[in-house]
Amino acid sequence: INFIRFIISKLSVIFMITIIGSGKVGGDAALFSALKKLDDQILLLDVAKGLPQGEAMDINHMLSEQGIDVEVKGSNDYEDIRGSNIVVVVAGSARKPGMTRMDLLKINASIVKSVTENIKKYADDSMIIPVSNPLDPMAYITQKVSGFDRSRVFGMGGMLDLSRFRQFIHESTGHSRDSIRGLVIGEHGENMLPLPRFSSVSGIPLSSFLPKEKLDEIVQNTKQVAAKVIELKGATVHAPGNAISAILETVVRDRKQVIPVATYLDGEYGHSDVTIGVPAVIGKNGVEKIIELDLNDEERQMFDKGVANVKDAISGIEI
Ligand code: LAC
Repeated sequence: INFIRFIISKLSVIFMITIIGSGKVGGDAALFSALKKLDDQILLLDVAKGLPQGEAMDINHMLSEQGIDVEVKGSNDYEDIRGSNIVVVVAGSARKPGMTRMDLLKINASIVKSVTENIKKYADDSMIIPVSNPLDPMAYITQKVSGFDRSRVFGMGGMLDLSRFRQFIHESTGHSRDSIRGLVIGEHGENMLPLPRFSSVSGIPLSSFLPKEKLDEIVQNTKQVAAKVIELKGATVHAPGNAISAILETVVRDRKQVIPVATYLDGEYGHSDVTIGVPAVIGKNGVEKIIELDLNDEERQMFDKGVANVKDAISGIEI
């Protein structure tokens, strides 16, 4: 039976997204992706019996009212991920109030390793989008354990930070969120690098709207706001779930958007053998091009500090 399922998966013309980890963020990612009609089929997978199945049923009931024919399924069996074109990995523990993302390193490293081994076994021609924290070391583990071409492994971190950076710019300038563009690169963590110099309102540089003191304040707020949300409501859910669906959309629709993703560097930005957030062209083939920005000394210093922190974390993990 498994051989037949293997053959079917290879012949399948159905585009399939699998989300491993069916908690709040994974469920939201499935919900937003279904509402965007990104896919024929979305599979939620989890070790918890009943959770992915119940989440799928709940989303399907909503989709029926909306008349959307995306099929969301739930499973506890890795066999069912066969044929996946993209696999999102949200599995693992989330941080609690007062924790940093890096505090999750040890516990999530073993989970992400095991999940990646199963993806390699059952969906070895898929693209993988790591989300579990600490994102950059988890994306590095995914890269190394999968052995996939680096274009097929790109973590969701900077996209989420960017959504917060844009919100603070919106609040400070009063301009429409739709006219605000920007970049946040580097470590998805304490050394993240929001880039006011590469941000604008309708193409007009941000510095034309806000003084340096305000820009510095927005940068600091962007770094700290996730911890504040976790302190207030216990977890971040909708912003990460949406950011995942935004990355999926640029892949599924081959939009070739330039967005920040955590991907493996091989000389870019002067670094190698590390996975960290950089601007990249994302389309149907995953990371189609890494874009190297002309960073100034202050920006370069923060980027390099993030690389050093991620490399330090990686050095302590047995892969
Ligand atoms: C956050 C977690 C997902 O930034 O890293 O909300």
